Amino acid sequence: MDESLESKFTSLKAKNLKIDLTRGKPGADQLDLSNQLLTNSVPSESPSGVDVRNYGHPLGIDEARELGAKLMSATMENTLVGEQSSLLLIYQLILANYLFGIEKPWKDQDDVAFICPVPGFDRHFRLLEDFGIKMLTIPLTGSGVDIEKFKGLLKENKNIKGIMCVPRHSNPSGDIYTDENISELLQLGKEYSSEFLFIFDNAYLLHDFLPSANQTAVWDLAIKHNVLDQTAIFCSFSKVTFGSGGLSFAAAGTKLFNLLVRQRTSMIVSADKVNQLRHTEFFKNKDDVVNHMRKHAELVKPKFEVAFNALDSLNPKIGNYKKPSGGYFISYNTNKPIAKRVIALCEEAGVLITPAGSTYPHFNDPADSNIRLAPTFLNLEDLKEAMEVFTIALQIAHQE
Ligand SMILES: Cc1ncc(COP(=O)(O)O)c(C=O)c1O
Repeated sequence: MDESLESKFTSLKAKNLKIDLTRGKPGADQLDLSNQLLTNSVPSESPSGVDVRNYGHPLGIDEARELGAKLMSATMENTLVGEQSSLLLIYQLILANYLFGIEKPWKDQDDVAFICPVPGFDRHFRLLEDFGIKMLTIPLTGSGVDIEKFKGLLKENKNIKGIMCVPRHSNPSGDIYTDENISELLQLGKEYSSEFLFIFDNAYLLHDFLPSANQTAVWDLAIKHNVLDQTAIFCSFSKVTFGSGGLSFAAAGTKLFNLLVRQRTSMIVSADKVNQLRHTEFFKNKDDVVNHMRKHAELVKPKFEVAFNALDSLNPKIGNYKKPSGGYFISYNTNKPIAKRVIALCEEAGVLITPAGSTYPHFNDPADSNIRLAPTFLNLEDLKEAMEVFTIALQIAHQE
């Protein structure tokens, strides 16, 4: 190993760092933006006249449904407000299809498969794995999924039930799918099967921190391509107000929406309407949310810049990445199969990074190349140190 790298690594290890870069959590300064939610008093009745302290209104109070619908450009009638987790709503939709289905329960079918863009969100993969659903991976191109590969998968596989994707600031690559890309997906999926589901996880719908590409609301594209009945869209306030303390929203075409509602009704009587009202008092309308997200962007941007500066200092022979303009992650691809080694070296120096392979189904990154960085949670000092460790680890692993 290069002696100067070795001595730098030794001195970094001597610092006994304990830095956790693993999960995309908001920083404490971002959480502070919503502190008013901790102290605002919540009336017992919503403006629409619902006693929020009691059971009932399982789809949510009108004010919260309207807000969610506006965010996703959907109709209030086809939008529900869940608990604090959009992942739970996605799980419930898959469960509903598994147990009941629109036409025939998935549990009674063979070789049920889903298309998963990669690199992707580990929890989507885990969710599908729970149901024994086969995951067919498809690469992201920087502006959506690889359409030729998408066509290939549809041609080669019989029982694909849909695609689960993050169309804006994809986790972790940051891809913003173009309208053309989404339109092609919708058209091809519809031609493949009337049961093909388009699951759009819009976790980063409003999370730009740099000027970002425009995107037509997926709801509107689904209407344009006449596939609303096969489309479900999810988002939440987990990275708007409090991590796991916000609200979640689902919007879907009527058949799917009813299926989700049917599933949820077996599980809960109604969601926490007190928290719904707390949020709708804090955000009166979509503009309030958008303005709030500008404040998040101001806090998050300098952190991404620290990470970008560190990565830009590296020799391009080591690997590459594309600068995201929003979301919570950076996706770095090494040119050699060294992701596991890089992460192990970082751990030796006290910096925890999401395990290699996490961005692929079954933790299987065939090229052992993709590494997900999550810069938001750390303060700038810790982040600088973590990035120093990461870049040294990359250089060492590349040379070995
Ligand atoms: C793509 C994506 N979807 C969903 C979630 C979780 O959202 P929620 O807290 O609403 O379940 C995350 C969180 O990291 C995410 O990255």
